Amino acid sequence: MQHTSPQVPHPQAEQNARAYDRIAHCYDGVYTSVLTHAGNAVLARWIERHLGPVDEKELLDMGCGTGLLPEILRVHPDRYVGLDPSVGMLDRARGKFPHLRLVQAYQEDTGFEDASFDSVASLFGVFSYSPEPERVVAEIGRVLKPGGKYLVMALGSRFCRNPKMECCNRHGVTSVFTCWSKSKLKRMFSTLGPCKAFSFSFAPGSTMLHPLLTRTGLRLESALLGPVLGGLFRYQIVTGVRS
Ligand SMILES: C[S@@+](CC[C@H](N)C(=O)[O-])C[C@H]1O[C@@H](n2cnc3c(N)ncnc32)[C@H](O)[C@@H]1O
Repeated sequence: MQHTSPQVPHPQAEQNARAYDRIAHCYDGVYTSVLTHAGNAVLARWIERHLGPVDEKELLDMGCGTGLLPEILRVHPDRYVGLDPSVGMLDRARGKFPHLRLVQAYQEDTGFEDASFDSVASLFGVFSYSPEPERVVAEIGRVLKPGGKYLVMALGSRFCRNPKMECCNRHGVTSVFTCWSKSKLKRMFSTLGPCKAFSFSFAPGSTMLHPLLTRTGLRLESALLGPVLGGLFRYQIVTGVRS
């Protein structure tokens, strides 16, 4: 699909991108623990449950960063596009995935034509960095084909307690994000069509319990964990279909 270089949508979006340039060198280094990998494995399953097999779709990875999505799921080189405004983050992703299409652009104005993608994934709080969230929702709706699906992960209200944010704090990234409640996120995305929202945590309870629960035939769902680990959720996820 065609891509035209978009304008910088908002001065704050530009500042956020430059802040990510500054932390690109240490970004991957803070996400190496066993818990992180366990959480990513859970997330990968959720992504495919909601978007379907991602290697069969035209997929836009909004705010791809250093390339987490192609690390945790197999993507098709001709059907995957990673988008990020940070050259530093993109350079890291290019080092790992030289065969993938990675473009410098913003979630507020992606530069792609209408109805270019079957799926949009936005992982780990990219949405929270937008100073114009309504514009991002509209842009997701615009680039998705009718019936296309999205999964957007926003920072939840407990996010700031994450000790892993030290690196980001030092480089001035944390002052600019918006934390979202499940209901606010759902309200926002319901403009595109039917959607649902749920919580996702990297708390030891959820990530370590998951393999255990799976082995015993139980499924780890937010419905199950919500009441138990409500205070520990760091992220809110909204998924839906573009009408
Ligand atoms: C927390 S990182 C997540 C990266 C990746 N999705 C992951 O899960 O590892 C947030 C990413 O959002 C990107 N970002 C910040 N502002 C953005 C914007 N306006 N549009 C698209 N991406 C943006 C940053 O450059 C950074 O790569």
